Amino acid sequence: MNASPDAASQPDDLDVSTTAGKIADLKGRYADAVTDAEAVAAAKQHAKGKKTARERIEGLLDPGSFVEIDEYVRHRTTAFGMDAKRPYGDAVITGTGTIHGRNVAVYSQNFTVFGGSLGEVAGEKIIKIMDLALRTGVPCIGILDSGGARIQEGVVALGKYGEIFRRNTAASGVIPQLSIIMGPAAGGAVYSPALTDFVIMVDKTSHMFVTGPDVIKTVTGEEVGFEELGGALAHNRTSGVAHYLAADEEDALDYARALLSFIPDNNLADLPTYDSDADLEITDDDRLLNQVIPDSPNQPYDVLTVIEGIVDDGDFLEVQPLYAPNIVIGFARVEGSPVGIIANQPSQMAGTLNIAAGEKASRFVRFCDAFSIPIITLVDVPGYLPGTDQEWSGVIRRGAKLLYAYAEATVPLVTVILRKAYGGAYIVMGSKQLGADLNYAWPTAEIAVMGGQGAVNILYRGEIKRAEEAGEDVAAVRTKLANDYTYNVASPFLAAERGELDGIIEPAATRVIVTKALRTLRSKRASLPPKKHGNIPL
Ligand code: HXC
Repeated sequence: MNASPDAASQPDDLDVSTTAGKIADLKGRYADAVTDAEAVAAAKQHAKGKKTARERIEGLLDPGSFVEIDEYVRHRTTAFGMDAKRPYGDAVITGTGTIHGRNVAVYSQNFTVFGGSLGEVAGEKIIKIMDLALRTGVPCIGILDSGGARIQEGVVALGKYGEIFRRNTAASGVIPQLSIIMGPAAGGAVYSPALTDFVIMVDKTSHMFVTGPDVIKTVTGEEVGFEELGGALAHNRTSGVAHYLAADEEDALDYARALLSFIPDNNLADLPTYDSDADLEITDDDRLLNQVIPDSPNQPYDVLTVIEGIVDDGDFLEVQPLYAPNIVIGFARVEGSPVGIIANQPSQMAGTLNIAAGEKASRFVRFCDAFSIPIITLVDVPGYLPGTDQEWSGVIRRGAKLLYAYAEATVPLVTVILRKAYGGAYIVMGSKQLGADLNYAWPTAEIAVMGGQGAVNILYRGEIKRAEEAGEDVAAVRTKLANDYTYNVASPFLAAERGELDGIIEPAATRVIVTKALRTLRSKRASLPPKKHGNIPL
């Protein structure tokens, strides 16, 4: 029988015909595959101020919980002299462990082996761990640091990406998927993270792009650097691809752990809750909410104050804070149980809705709905941002996503209108008509087709003209008419009278009312008509 070119000759000092010899052989090979390889990787990565793939996993998981698999996998490529270098484990470390004591599956690309590139066996390792995650119903976390498809392996490498994308899609809405970018993610490789639920990037050291600066310069003549094009700031602030800008690798891992503390293991699992009985009496802290809304309707305030006043211990984990800051999304707990929060932010663009805000919020609604996390919506929205830029960029089609997401959501939905709720924006922000379960308004709420000033211009054109001709103080007339309109037409009591709202509550009572609403909705059952899938306006 011909030995393969890689067949190892028996070490002289081992008698592998004995059990002791076999165990010693295993130890030697383990040292090659893991301990010695790790020392080499550490030297390379630490010199660049980066952690190794295994160190990153250890930082992510509960101490000592990581169990590696496939550490003896080696590639089978012979092209380009690749058979001369067949490191154990290839370019990715995979395995299982726990976060907050709960099982997760993880892979971490090893840049020190073929630049973390994805060839056949690296792809197979990732696919295997994704399959295990899906089969066992646990979150799958990828730590990416890779030059993309392994150039030497050509179409085989591309094919493995296709298989990974298919699994990302199959797992979407079944198990939570997180991508932590800790180096390059280039070319089509960026689409695996894009298919996952949350993308975390590390400032200055992570980059994502479909085509890099060199290609861009060749094709379009445009000159742009790595950081400006696809750095963590660009994707957190401008493109909305990323959900968190981590200051460093440790911060990225901490954020991933924090995120998972709010998310169930899978779409059929219970939410991760803490024992907690809310105080159902209004407290002095609750009364601070009575002072949040300014007397002037044009004056902004920070909606984070309201969120922190409602949720357990004021703890709110914001998601995508830098992108479309006119809407706030994130996780918190009420009575120890996770909730998703969506809130207009009056301190940014007066809280108007635009395409970016709509898409940010709709994806969040769908995530929460897929994993049965109740949604609290806090509304203060003067309307959609007007302009040709928005219209021509598809605010109709892209804005419809948020309507679709809320209308299709079957999780408990509780909405509180804090101040403005005008026009289509009123409907879209978790309105009762769209399917919310319990809707409340503060007495400061204004609900109407449009704001008082706009309505007066249309409804009282004649009166204003007459006032002008009579030489009256037109501004004063306009303000009086607008105030009357707001009081009479935009009054939340009108909506309450018609049952469009379930109640009008003092701000101080919000925490208690929301807590009780969520208790009521614990047993909510809702279903959609059977269909293959809907056709969300993508
Ligand atoms: C094979 C690769 C590789 C790749 C890097 N390496 N990328 N090997 N396939 N895709 C190897 C390098 O040869 C080098 O090996 C080692 O990794 C480290 O790379 P460096 O270039 O020295 O590192 P650095 O200067 O930090 O630059 C990193 C980098 C650069 C920016 C990622 O390597 C790069 O541009 N790589 C190519 C990126 C790319 O275009 N990939 C294809 C994308 S398309 P040695 O032996 O010298 O240490 C794609 C399609 C997916 O991925 C499609 C899915 C549908």
